[in-house]
Amino acid sequence: MARRTKIYEGKAKILYEGPEPGTIVQYFKDDATAFNAQKKDVIEGKGVLNNRLSEFFMTGLNQIGVPTHFIKRLNMREQLVRQCEIIPLEVIVRNFAAGSMAKRLGIEEGLQLPRPIVEYCYKDDKLGDPLVTEEHIAAFGWASQQDMDDILSLALRVNDFLSGVMMAVGIKLVDFKIEIGRVYDGDFQRLIIADEISPDSCRLWDIETGQKLDKDVFRRDLGSLTDAYTEVARRLGVMPKSSTPISKPTLIN
Ligand SMILES: Nc1ncnc2c1ncn2[C@@H]1O[C@H](COP(=O)(O)OP(=O)(O)O)[C@@H](O)[C@H]1O
Ligand SMILES: [Mg+2]
Repeated sequence: MARRTKIYEGKAKILYEGPEPGTIVQYFKDDATAFNAQKKDVIEGKGVLNNRLSEFFMTGLNQIGVPTHFIKRLNMREQLVRQCEIIPLEVIVRNFAAGSMAKRLGIEEGLQLPRPIVEYCYKDDKLGDPLVTEEHIAAFGWASQQDMDDILSLALRVNDFLSGVMMAVGIKLVDFKIEIGRVYDGDFQRLIIADEISPDSCRLWDIETGQKLDKDVFRRDLGSLTDAYTEVARRLGVMPKSSTPISKPTLIN
């Protein structure tokens, strides 16, 4: 196969030109970063798991009519997605207090919020993705009022879907982050869920034990990240073939 043209290399993924205009190939690396890339490591197998898990969540969202960029998985580490103009916001939905919000407001981690709270951060690594309000978003023209209405309803639909899927396998969806992209269909523009949905971008706690099954395992040195992500994949029935246990040889009489 011809060598693909690299469009962008980020912290966790590489984007290549896709086979048709308007498509791109997303390659999931094993690199893990936290605290705006101050902490870095290579976690073997993470890319394979996130490729599968993002496929699983995006496919489910597509099926319930929440549009996403996902087209199809190509192999263990790559998926074909629809190219879009990324809105420079990290859209965060929180169901329980944790991480930066718990810190910022002096709330104990794990406290259930009175209702899901949606926050926006301006996507800029150099600035450390600062929290912004809808006022900043409108004033700087990052998204229109109509976009903001659509983003809010998309974010809440993703939250309901993911919370339910996780609850069914004994996992609490504490919070998550999504990125949203703009696509054009003729004269119309619409917004779709882009980037990835994986344990890199969610906080997932075991309902019974409170055990963390997401990137906090890496951020806070709580053990094996691959084990945590494999556990999420196992519960959801999303297991990469290579890691399914090989059955013992049976004797043939
Ligand atoms: N469908 C898409 N079209 C265009 N860009 C995308 C799409 N999905 C994700 N992206 C962008 O591709 C990059 C993915 O690589 P990643 O390693 O996550 O980058 P970063 O270090 O910037 O977070 C992100 O910048 C993300 O905004
Ligand atoms: Mg990213």
